[in-house]
This record gives sequence, C-alpha cells and structure tokens, in this order.
Amino acid sequence: MNMRMENHVVIDLKRDAAIVEISVDGQKVKACEGEPILAALLASGIKINRYTMKKHEPRGLFCGIGQCTDCAMIVNGQPNVRTCITPVQAGMVIQTQDGLTKGG
Ligand code: FES
Repeated sequence: MNMRMENHVVIDLKRDAAIVEISVDGQKVKACEGEPILAALLASGIKINRYTMKKHEPRGLFCGIGQCTDCAMIVNGQPNVRTCITPVQAGMVIQTQDGLTKGG
C-alpha cells in the first residue's frame, strides 16, 4: 500500500531522492533516502511505532518535531530513536519498540 502524497496544491513535491529499501519488523519497505523514517512508515501504512511500558498502549506520530518521543523505535539496534527526525538510510533495520527496551 502506498499512502505517499503524489500531488499538492501548494507544496512542490518534486522528488529526486533515491528509492531505497529498509526493514521494518522484518518487512521490506521502500523509502526515499533522507526523508524522516516516520514519513516512510506512514507512506507504507505503518502507524504504530511503539507500545507504552505500563499499559502496552500503541503510540505513533504526535508532534512530528522531535519533542514527544511517541515515535520512538529501535533503529539498527539502538532503542528510543525518534523516527520523525531521523533520516532514512539504505538498509536500516527498524523494529517496533515495546516499553523501555534495551534494544537488539
Ligand atoms: S512524533 Fe513526537 S518526537 Fe516524533
């Protein structure tokens, strides 16, 4: 499923970034190199980034500017990475985070 915005009445969406592949919970996802990880996930229909520690509730995009940590995921084994401000690099391995994981 591709939910990426193709046209916009105000914003020029010319894209010349390379299309790369990342892994999200073992699933291959196509992304534009350099875009925020969160944007690539949303474009692929992935809306849950982590689950809270106590109530195991899902969290996803909230502020979108690196302030709330609701988008935190495990990226290349590193937990608590704010995916809304972390750019995509080819071959990244991303996992949904469950609580305050130690990663890996
Ligand atoms: S959505 Fe708030 S830090 Fe990423």
